[in-house]
Amino acid sequence: MKFDEVGYWSEIKLDIVKEYAAAYSRILAAQKSPPLYHIYIDAFAGAGMHISKSTGGFIPGSPMNALLIKPPFKEYHLIDFDYEKLIC
Ligand SMILES: C[S@@+](CC[C@H](N)C(=O)[O-])C[C@H]1O[C@@H](n2cnc3c(N)ncnc32)[C@H](O)[C@@H]1O
Repeated sequence: MKFDEVGYWSEIKLDIVKEYAAAYSRILAAQKSPPLYHIYIDAFAGAGMHISKSTGGFIPGSPMNALLIKPPFKEYHLIDFDYEKLIC
């Protein structure tokens, strides 16, 4: 596996996307008439985990954050052109 090192601004971006995706999933899952089928697509997914430049430790990337959101999305499509970042 290959992991990217990410800086402070990327960690802030990850938090923003996580909060946005959680609200999005909660609101769409609550729609009943008609019920909606919401899916998560990340075309630049990365390895799912990153190494924090500030701590040197692993932090979740956007795919891992998305997979932990409750209520869950109905489908997840995680894409990256770097095969070393793919978990198969
Ligand atoms: C910043 S990293 C991953 C970010 C991830 N979405 C996150 O926020 O945790 C961007 C990724 O996009 C991938 N990438 C760049 N150009 C791409 C392309 N044209 N098609 C698919 N993946 C691409 C890179 O390999 C890299 O892993």
